[in-house]
Amino acid sequence: MTPPAIVLLPHVDFDTGTLRGSGIETAVRTIADLKGIFRDARALETLDPKAVVYRVEAYAPVAEGTEGGLFWGATFIEPGMVGDEYFMTKGHFHARRNRGEYYVTVAGEGALILMDEARQTRFEAMSPGSVHYIPGHTAHRTANTGNAVLSFVACWPSDAGHDYETIAARGFSARLRNVAGVPALVEEA
Ligand code: 6PG
Ligand code: NI
Repeated sequence: MTPPAIVLLPHVDFDTGTLRGSGIETAVRTIADLKGIFRDARALETLDPKAVVYRVEAYAPVAEGTEGGLFWGATFIEPGMVGDEYFMTKGHFHARRNRGEYYVTVAGEGALILMDEARQTRFEAMSPGSVHYIPGHTAHRTANTGNAVLSFVACWPSDAGHDYETIAARGFSARLRNVAGVPALVEEA
């Protein structure tokens, strides 16, 4: 008899959120990749364009676009500022607008910034163990408000997709800024 094939399952390190195993894809976003995301373009220019702002590790057991499947990922945002804004992700709506997502914070301190289709923006504080349900029809972006790496794990439908264009064109209606030492949402003028 042929012995059953040994399948190496992916593995999460619960101290850091890091995913290990075969089939894990990593995407890196540097300062150069984030032009137009931060309000202070001058402050961005003073930073090394090659410096990493965040990294995403994703496990896709089915093809992107498959209905009924789920993806798993982990995001790691470095600590840092661009002017008075914290290092943050580009942010997106899901291309299929009604698709939701879960985030669970592993390490660090941060904020999940959420904007609905009526452009109402709010945020939820992220700290180790915090569970965040992102409803459908809601753009999401995360910012590292602490001094160490912010990491969180995520689970989302394999047919959600990413719509970055809407955010690239109009942004969020409010920005998370350091106001007298405290992260606060400031409405865009
Ligand atoms: C997703 C998740 C998450 C997200 C990263 C990076 O839908 O895939 O929301 O994995 O992609 O945190 O954020 P950006 O995709 O906005 O760069
Ligand atoms: Ni998402």
